[in-house]
Amino acid sequence: MAAGDSFYIATPIFYVNDVPHIGHAYTEVAADVLARWHRQSGDDTWLLTGTDEHGQKILRTAVANDTTPQEWADKLVNESWLPLLETINIANDDFIRTTDERHESAVRIFLQKLYDDGFIYSGEYEGYYCVGCEEYKQLDDLMESAVGDYAGQLVCKIHTRPVEVLKEKNYFFRMSDFQQRLLDLYESQRDFIQPDSVRNEIIQFVKSGLQDLSISRSSFDWGIKVPWDDDHVVYVWFEALLNYITAIGYGTDDENFARRWPANQLVGKDIARFHAVIWPAMLMAANLDVPRRVFGHGWLLVGGEKMSKSKLTGIAPSQITDTFGVDAFRYYFLSAINFGQDGSFSWEDLAARYQSELANGFGNLASRVIAMVNRYFDGAVPSPASYTEADLAIRDVVLAATRNADAAMERFAIHEAIASIWTIVDELNGYITIQEPWALSKDAAQRERLGTVLYTAAEGLRALAVLLSPFIPESTEKLWGALGATEALGALVNQSIPEAGNWGQLPPASRVSTIDALFPRIESPEPSIA
Ligand code: ME8
Ligand code: MG
Repeated sequence: MAAGDSFYIATPIFYVNDVPHIGHAYTEVAADVLARWHRQSGDDTWLLTGTDEHGQKILRTAVANDTTPQEWADKLVNESWLPLLETINIANDDFIRTTDERHESAVRIFLQKLYDDGFIYSGEYEGYYCVGCEEYKQLDDLMESAVGDYAGQLVCKIHTRPVEVLKEKNYFFRMSDFQQRLLDLYESQRDFIQPDSVRNEIIQFVKSGLQDLSISRSSFDWGIKVPWDDDHVVYVWFEALLNYITAIGYGTDDENFARRWPANQLVGKDIARFHAVIWPAMLMAANLDVPRRVFGHGWLLVGGEKMSKSKLTGIAPSQITDTFGVDAFRYYFLSAINFGQDGSFSWEDLAARYQSELANGFGNLASRVIAMVNRYFDGAVPSPASYTEADLAIRDVVLAATRNADAAMERFAIHEAIASIWTIVDELNGYITIQEPWALSKDAAQRERLGTVLYTAAEGLRALAVLLSPFIPESTEKLWGALGATEALGALVNQSIPEAGNWGQLPPASRVSTIDALFPRIESPEPSIA
């Protein structure tokens, strides 16, 4: 991308039937890291997240809790979903709720346009519906429950609960008209759906034939009224998908809409079909651009199954951040799992990687280098004299890591970007072991050499702080302060990532301070999770 380009990224909007777990936090952190990376690359960046509040699932949860759906949604948003963003340090630019007036009015504008242009007709829906998925189901999506409370009944394969049988007068969207245009889109815009595993599945699905989609419900009223027929509310998915454009001014602020759209859409692969089939068809019908891309990431698994609220396997993000800290949370899920694939969560793996990579690898490097500048140079970063091959090799690793990480982030290969940046950590640790600054310090004749080695190490840390800041913003901020970089170079969040690899930015004579362990030792890594 060229600097100054628009980079608009959105997460799904999450259901407020329950509190967030680490699966939701995973999507949020990935989107936040990509947004921070692009912001520091000079792109015109916008990160949107929010909540999905209409439909039967929320209505039923509210009723079961003796309250109204609006009160339930307000409570969950204020007590759980907004606090989640603090817990995991998300720097979102906006937060949309589907009960916002701005959303409801823009949804009505969109619906009316599709209706006026002949893309919507009235008909009768007869078939199955899973309230857990908020989705119309085909027989293929169902199975007969063998055991338990629902033995002998037809249940949703995902939720393993009985589906509803609907027979309702509904409005339909002419989605079948868009089958060929969608297939053409997948061919012409190769990275429209990523990763390839998801892309292939979607292409197969669309090739097998698209039906028109029921887009209204008339048997309950917790939703946005259909503009021309008060007896119907808009099908929850049909309006929820519109959040990505209602939040940036569709129908009300053409200038902002043109500035931001189209979005990069990050979703879990569970909802890739909604985003890669229904959503672009809706946009095509309205003559709007389709998303820049739809990336369907993998699932966090617990005991081999998708972690989920309905299966009671959800782990609260604070269970991890309370013990390991927010940066460890962010780093762990993005480095340990190939972005796009599923990953199993385990406390043992988290604790092991925390200790070896964050504490021993990166944190210890930072502490040692800063301690040596304090000890041998009274806290003033020394000037480099003439560079040897070993020093120049560090410079080259820093430059290559910056380029490789940027190229990986462009493909949303977040784990590859981290691996590239980590080559700097590993190289610097090896460099210090070989150069032995503690030995050089004992020989007055090696004073210049000692200065060059510690400058090289400190300058490497400068680049690391910049490149890692989107991933681990808290600890890199501490490192930046300890390096004394703020005075000469300005705030860490304003450092340019594409230029991070340019050698020699940390001015000699910068005053370092002392630094506490960035990733302190954790006494009992497994919190009481029983
Ligand atoms: O589907 N692993 O909301 P939702 C990884 N409201 N990610 C996970 C996950 C897991 N085990 N579990 C959940 C909805 N997620 C709709 C979306 S968008 C217009 C409407 C994440 O609350 C992942 O991003 O069920 C997944 O797609 C999303 O949460 C589903 O959240
Ligand atoms: Mg879900």
